[in-house]
Amino acid sequence: MKEKLELILKAAMEEINKASTIQELEDAKLKYLSRKGELNSIKKNLKDLSDEDKRIVGSLANEVYNKLDSLISERNNEFYKIELDKKLKSEKIDITLPSDFRPQGKIHPLTQTVNEIVEIFQGLGFSVMPSEYSPEVETEYINFDMLNFPPDHPAKDMQDTFYTKVAPNVILRSQTSGAQIRQMLNQKPPVRVISPGRVYRCESVSARKNNLFHQIEGLLVDKDITFADLKGILNEFVRIYFGSSRPTRFRASYFPFTEPSAEVDVQCIMCEGKGCRTCSGTGWLEVLGAGMVHPNVLRNVGIDPEVYSGFAFGMGVERLTMLKYAINDIRLFFNNDTRFLKQF
Ligand code: PHE
Repeated sequence: MKEKLELILKAAMEEINKASTIQELEDAKLKYLSRKGELNSIKKNLKDLSDEDKRIVGSLANEVYNKLDSLISERNNEFYKIELDKKLKSEKIDITLPSDFRPQGKIHPLTQTVNEIVEIFQGLGFSVMPSEYSPEVETEYINFDMLNFPPDHPAKDMQDTFYTKVAPNVILRSQTSGAQIRQMLNQKPPVRVISPGRVYRCESVSARKNNLFHQIEGLLVDKDITFADLKGILNEFVRIYFGSSRPTRFRASYFPFTEPSAEVDVQCIMCEGKGCRTCSGTGWLEVLGAGMVHPNVLRNVGIDPEVYSGFAFGMGVERLTMLKYAINDIRLFFNNDTRFLKQF
């Protein structure tokens, strides 16, 4: 029996050492150490031996069992380490790899300016006109005729206005002032609104001019409105937008739909009034057009100019943004180069 045990030990050790997978190791364990295994079958036969032999063979069998058991757990540990290594390698995170970069969007500088100006005028009691009064595809009738442009006015010339093929008198609006007409046709005074929007002019594109740009139109009509009210509101706007330290001036001008008309200048932000290329040496920059609503315009929309008066103004969003941030090329707003846009 002793020899048999030694044979079992030898065969089992060989099998355990040879095992190349966990499964083979499990098989060997089952074959030699389990209840129905070879060692146990020897133990079952102990009862036929003398007491003396029982003791010797019994303890030898236990020794063999312990040896094999520890060999199996040793090999098990080996397999475990190999598996772990494999797992660590395959699941390794390389923290030097570039991350999943998600650039964040920003509000376009022109939209930021529009929002800012709208907020300023809301603070002065104006509300935003419904957008349906301000279509970009407009009739010549609203864009020019109702605004008191004489039929032969040069602004109506093909040079300045984009005509469409939709119908003979349908154009891309050249100014937001048509919104005044639609507003007054829809609402009787008192009227106190602003209307931001996109306008189009057939011009050659340069650093200063684009054939698409944005304006904000303003209109206030009520009883007893004077030029002093216009001046007060616009001075207040310029003071809030540019800061109180920047001087402004009102200069007499001409628009067919306002009388009297004015243009508002702010002191040049580049040279602080000394005169430079940006302000063509004048020290001043024009920022908006304005005036008292022409009696003919009020009459055109059925408002009695003997009872009501009002003022209107229009400003260029690109220009106001360029002046605030010292941007020297209007085309930057439309190229959508993120290196430019992310600065705002
Ligand atoms: N519509 C004029 C322009 O585009 C600006 C303006 C608006 C002037 C309202 C007076 C009143 O130049």
